[in-house]
Amino acid sequence: MAAIFSKKNAAGELTGLPRHIAIILDGNGRWAKKRGLPRTAGHVEGSENFRRIATYCKNIGVEYLTVYAFSTENWKRPPEEVGAIMKLLGKYLHEAVDTMAKDHIRMKILGDVSALSPELRSLVDKTEKISQGYDGFQANICLNYGGRDEIIRAASRWAQDAAEGKVSGELTEEIFSSYLYSAGIPDPDLLIRPGGEQRISNFLLWQCAYSEFYYTDTLWPDFTPNDLDKAIEVYRSRDRRFGGVKNP
Ligand code: FPP
Repeated sequence: MAAIFSKKNAAGELTGLPRHIAIILDGNGRWAKKRGLPRTAGHVEGSENFRRIATYCKNIGVEYLTVYAFSTENWKRPPEEVGAIMKLLGKYLHEAVDTMAKDHIRMKILGDVSALSPELRSLVDKTEKISQGYDGFQANICLNYGGRDEIIRAASRWAQDAAEGKVSGELTEEIFSSYLYSAGIPDPDLLIRPGGEQRISNFLLWQCAYSEFYYTDTLWPDFTPNDLDKAIEVYRSRDRRFGGVKNP
């Protein structure tokens, strides 16, 4: 565990940690290009880094890590690249099934899995089923995910339920949240975007209403636990008011 954290409570636990960290995995292609490698090599390194950072998050006591691995717009990429990313996701999930008994990481895929191959869908089902009993740390992988798409689907599903008399009364934020892919998951406290861009790119649009944003030029494959420590330190220095005032 990194030494950067100084605030501990009487029980020796770290305080002020974000409960939920969301990360846009950006910069894989540039990482590969800088090394004269094909873009897919960057995705390989990016998926290995997801493994490292997820383990680190679990070890320091973060409860949820959500990563943006493939967006609803990423299908526009060359078919070889899409295929390589899907293959990597399959490999990751396959390995996750093997190591779950040891790692105790609860896994969830957020997104429209109906567009995925039958093999990948069955791996998604398997990983989610095996790991659902684990608690303490949950890794969410956003796959064929788009924030607008998620909101439209949630609204349509609610309208359908209302038309069928399955729900009644006013639609509240809480009820709406329960129709999202992220139902039951607290909103991200900290959103990190490596890779130098400073935009949200259709990621967790509803859920990030009050998240703290942190951007860095470091490319995702180069993003280390030390970089995560820095992001958490910045997060801890922020004054979160959720629209209120501090000392009224
Ligand atoms: C964005 O970087 C990255 C992606 C669209 C793919 C991310 C996918 C993985 C890391 C593989 C599987 C993930 C897991 C969680 C097992 P980019 O390629 O657009 O980077 P660039 O801006 O440098 O081109």
